[in-house]
Amino acid sequence: MASTRAAQGAQVLVASNRGPVSYEVREDGSLHARRGGGGLVSGLSAIGPDAGALWVCSALGDGDREAVRRGVGEHGVRMLDIPADVHADAYNGIANSVLWFVHHMLYQTPLEPVFGAEFRRQWASYEAYNRAFAEALAQEAAEGAAVLVQDYHLCLVPGMLRELRPDLRIAHFSHTPWAPDAYFRILPDDIRAQLVWGLLGADQLGFLTWRWATAFAECAQAVDESIGREWPQQGPRALTHGGGGTPGRRTRIGVHGLGADAEFLRARSHEADVEERITALRGEIGTAPDGSPRRTIVRVDRTELSKNIVRGLLAYRQLLDDHPEWRERVTHVAFAYPSRQDLAVYRDYTAEVQRVAEEINSAYGTPGWTPVVLHVKDDFARSLAAYRLADVALVNPIRDGMNLVAKEVPLVSDDGCALVLSREAGAYEELGEDAIVVNPYDVIETARALHTALTMPQGERAERAKRLAAAATALPPARWFLDQLTALNEPQPS
Ligand code: F6P
Repeated sequence: MASTRAAQGAQVLVASNRGPVSYEVREDGSLHARRGGGGLVSGLSAIGPDAGALWVCSALGDGDREAVRRGVGEHGVRMLDIPADVHADAYNGIANSVLWFVHHMLYQTPLEPVFGAEFRRQWASYEAYNRAFAEALAQEAAEGAAVLVQDYHLCLVPGMLRELRPDLRIAHFSHTPWAPDAYFRILPDDIRAQLVWGLLGADQLGFLTWRWATAFAECAQAVDESIGREWPQQGPRALTHGGGGTPGRRTRIGVHGLGADAEFLRARSHEADVEERITALRGEIGTAPDGSPRRTIVRVDRTELSKNIVRGLLAYRQLLDDHPEWRERVTHVAFAYPSRQDLAVYRDYTAEVQRVAEEINSAYGTPGWTPVVLHVKDDFARSLAAYRLADVALVNPIRDGMNLVAKEVPLVSDDGCALVLSREAGAYEELGEDAIVVNPYDVIETARALHTALTMPQGERAERAKRLAAAATALPPARWFLDQLTALNEPQPS
């Protein structure tokens, strides 16, 4: 079986913490499956059902674990039943509380992080969790298969898998930023080395922008000065090293800037449930004193600490102070959806977003005007409704791998929106020219940018939105995925 697949062309395996399906145990004991979307799902569907693709992911909750135990599953998906405590340490403890913080530079360093015994205990779980993936992939992969490993949860997998199966073609893709070396050095030296060498076990490392790719190369060379860099202006770039016990190995470094899925979004945003939500949202936004529809500043985020929602609200309040003429004429539509709620710091952040929004509403609101319309319950159709109504999109993360919302709103907005964009988002590299660019920490500048965006002449706004949408869709998910696969299958120079 394995050799037949290899002869036909490489089998493809994807590995990620969160898989394309999740299960819930219903009251009657039955299992209910929910399917997710996203770039990897469209990518995998683009290679067709005959490719023998397999997605290896982790069981995340009780429903998933129950599904694994009952042998329930989707064709082409293998869920790993990693013990819940090991998963919690690896996912919450290391991936989301350490690696995410390092790459997004989120620590308040006078008191954190502290790398003591508790960290070491959790790191052992991160190793065990990565090993479980490497072993499952080694077991499932046909000879010569292509394995695409995703994200900061699985940094050690490429190195572990190469040891187990040197015949495989291994790629890793980082969906986050990569920390500059001066910040990466916060991590203990042996951990930095493990992360770098874990990733260099791959044949190919993918990043969303050259800024993150270059940062990785610098961190790698700081870990071991024998690592060489082939970094021509034009042509393929690589790190050369003796990792994985093979002297003279190269790991190619590539950039694949995931784009928005225009076809899907345009069609989905005109379905009936979205129209219904537009009507409801229009009611919440209301009309200006002269009877015209209120202008909208829209933001949609998962409530991650890096999204900078609180400073966005503070900038909006600054706008209302600096330009009282906008009072009653604009509404800030802010959707802040729950993310990683097992972590207290995320729950606290959501509470702070709610507190600041309420503060603005009670200080500035009038009987007919709610300055901030905040929703914290995830609703994709309502997000699309907000996109369609957006005059201005506010995307001001402290740091972000890419930020797809910056790409999606200009594409979907009915009248073409202006984009206020943080220079620290990966999307800035592709969209910076037609956005109004801000330093995410500077709320006065952000308030000014919001004013500029709101007063931008309609013609200019529509023109810019058109160019933003074109840049945003340059690399749709299926192509993004296939490009990585093609690069992985290209022969290495000897
Ligand atoms: O947005 C960055 C990212 O790392 C994605 O690649 C990934 O899907 C997601 O965050 C992980 O989020 P969660 O913790 O909810 O699975």
